[in-house]
Amino acid sequence: MTDTYAVIGNPISHTKSPFIHGSFAATTAQDLVYTAIEGPLDGFAVAADAFRAGGGLGLNITAPFKLDAFRYATDLTERARRAGAVNAMKFVGKRAYADNFDGVGLVRDITHNLGCALQGQRVLLLGAGGAARGALLPFLEQNPAQLVVANRTLATAQAMALGTAARVCGYGELVGQSFDIVVNATSASLRAELPPVPASVFAQARLAYELAYGKGLTPFLRLAQTAGVVLLADGVGMLAEQAAEAFAWWRGVRPDTAGVIAKLTVPLV
Ligand code: ATR
Repeated sequence: MTDTYAVIGNPISHTKSPFIHGSFAATTAQDLVYTAIEGPLDGFAVAADAFRAGGGLGLNITAPFKLDAFRYATDLTERARRAGAVNAMKFVGKRAYADNFDGVGLVRDITHNLGCALQGQRVLLLGAGGAARGALLPFLEQNPAQLVVANRTLATAQAMALGTAARVCGYGELVGQSFDIVVNATSASLRAELPPVPASVFAQARLAYELAYGKGLTPFLRLAQTAGVVLLADGVGMLAEQAAEAFAWWRGVRPDTAGVIAKLTVPLV
């Protein structure tokens, strides 16, 4: 019997996940279908129950349901608990196992696809929302020389970094500091805004990474490029890698991501 998976979000028409997982299934010869579900804004649990009742084995979860999925889960991994959000679930009988692969997908893209080790590096993470929370633990697991989290609202960053080795500051304190890797996990680029990051942070940087995907050269990436950063990347690789992690978790086989990354890449111009 063909196994069923889906991504659930609202809106969902923009999603690349059916294309990505369809490609993975084809290249790994897995017998599955992967669809997109537009869940009602106040009805995540009902939609998830209906999907399971129809035989669905696993879901990816995207905005705005990552917190609903967190509450729906019966079993959470440590990184999903720390992130406070779930982006993948696996259903076995009455259990709803939940994980968050966004951060590990980001780490794999940086270290494997882009060839930049995080270990021993000075890393600056901008933002303290859901995207940054997902990245925090996976980044720290790579043993960077330092991880600094900068956010407009200091208290949010302090709460996020509590009990970890990350250092927290406001944007103003970044003047004169430099880093090897700078990652924009704010939502500023979704509105073509620039987080108030001083250009000096890029003086010695070898990588500027924008989590938003498909926006071309965002104000953040443009600032980094002007400051002389050679390696610029957006979140297309992270998107493919988090999908590959979920696919491997569900199916026991890890697909190669190079093909889907090549097809989904939007030039940074
Ligand atoms: P997401 O789930 O995409 O991370 P979020 O949880 O709403 O979205 O978090 C948005 C993040 O982007 C926050 O860190 C926010 O900063 P504040 O906590 O100070 O609000 C940050 N952000 C959004 N727009 C920004 C801007 N123009 N400049 C700097 N930071 C911005």
